[in-house]
Amino acid sequence: MIYAFLNQKGGVGKTTLSIHTAAELSGRGRRVLLIDADPQGSSLAWSNYREKANFTVVGMPKATIHKEIDLLAQDYDDVVIDGPPRVTELARSIILSADIVVIPVQPSPMDVWAAAETVDLVREAQVYKPEIKCCLVINRKITNTAIGRDVRDALAELEVPVLKNDIGQRVAFAESAASGSTVLNQKLSKAAREIIKFVNELRRLK
Ligand SMILES: Nc1ncnc2c1ncn2[C@@H]1O[C@H](COP(=O)(O)OP(=O)(O)OP(=O)(O)O)[C@@H](O)[C@H]1O
Ligand SMILES: [Mg+2]
Repeated sequence: MIYAFLNQKGGVGKTTLSIHTAAELSGRGRRVLLIDADPQGSSLAWSNYREKANFTVVGMPKATIHKEIDLLAQDYDDVVIDGPPRVTELARSIILSADIVVIPVQPSPMDVWAAAETVDLVREAQVYKPEIKCCLVINRKITNTAIGRDVRDALAELEVPVLKNDIGQRVAFAESAASGSTVLNQKLSKAAREIIKFVNELRRLK
């Protein structure tokens, strides 16, 4: 399965969720390739600090990914693509490469508007490739806030499935990234449990 994390908006959690999805899938024994398709190279930078290698990370910020994806993916069970913010040509190529486009959104109105732009790009690509799936996931949710609940209603208007399993605002994500690790090292933490449930839900989408 090819999962692409994409949002034209910066800083919404594309890299964080890409790394955690790759780590969780490889922890389940799947052969995983993480493609860093962002010219900023954040996933690659993380992998340079990584404690132990359990999946492959390559950098490929090129708008030709969709032409090369079959070759890149051939030795892997799953591919995770960490997309860039803003660069539309690259985003189009990534969408065409994907089985599922996952759009992380933070609980704020600005993020809902930005997600709409990315949803439009997916809809354009679905004209050529209708089998591409798309979903939204709420990231950095602060529990029991009205905005956290309202954002779900606002996102419903985009007519794209919103995953039931949100990811909370948790300092463990930033802390673990700093050491080339993931929150999955603390198996019983809230952050790890959220990631596990999120990946379970993603896999059920296929
Ligand atoms: N659920 C979370 N809880 C706390 N911090 C988070 C969470 N998700 C992401 N962050 C932090 O937010 C910042 C931005 O996240 P990230 O780099 O994953 O976003 P991005 O969409 O990849 O950004 P860019 O568009 O620049 O590539 C990082 O410092 C990351 O550690
Ligand atoms: Mg990123």
